[in-house]
Amino acid sequence: MPSLFQKLFSRTPMARSTRAYEFGLQFLDLPPDPLVLDIGTGQGNGTAFLSRRLPDAQVVSLDIDLTCFNPDELAFGPKRPWFIQATALAMPLATASLDAVVLVMTFHCLPQSQQVLAEVARVLRPGGMLLLADVDGHHWMARPFELVEHLFVSPFTHAYTPEELEQMTRQVGLVDFQVHRRPGKERGFMMWVTARKP
Ligand SMILES: C[S@@+](CC[C@H](N)C(=O)[O-])C[C@H]1O[C@@H](n2cnc3c(N)ncnc32)[C@H](O)[C@@H]1O
Repeated sequence: MPSLFQKLFSRTPMARSTRAYEFGLQFLDLPPDPLVLDIGTGQGNGTAFLSRRLPDAQVVSLDIDLTCFNPDELAFGPKRPWFIQATALAMPLATASLDAVVLVMTFHCLPQSQQVLAEVARVLRPGGMLLLADVDGHHWMARPFELVEHLFVSPFTHAYTPEELEQMTRQVGLVDFQVHRRPGKERGFMMWVTARKP
């Protein structure tokens, strides 16, 4: 169940923003009619955005806790996303079935994150892509961010550095690791990372 802090934060424009999804989509190379997994549904705004922006995609959205999510408050694209309540540590999804896996502001709060990446590598089809958008562990706000998250959100929160993510994705067999940043914000709070299953 979400804490009071999470409930209050979920009402803010920042929590409802889909800008990180919007910026990251340009780095995804998708086939026609792709199957796209969004790990960390939260309130569902990002998932709904994906279903509108990728009208030919079937979006699957997975979260360990769907109590923050109210479909009546969201506008979906022509294909309604599928919602699954499950842990990202053991996803009820077939091996090599997905064209892309997206994690926006979710990876930092997951327990056993290396195991999650192993699951991501398992469910991606060969050539499928990972898109991960999160706080850059090198940013000066990363430590205060972790502190607030530890107090109010998750004891597991860790703002990963690009170097940590490169090593972790390599360990699960993903290749073509790349870090993307907003133009003019090379030292920004957010970073976007892509990698591909060979
Ligand atoms: C900050 S929210 C995601 C927000 C959403 N991606 C967005 O940008 O609007 C992080 C989500 O990760 C979920 N989560 C935490 N641990 C998880 C796990 N082990 N498996 C799946 N989801 C998990 C939480 O329930 C929470 O909804």
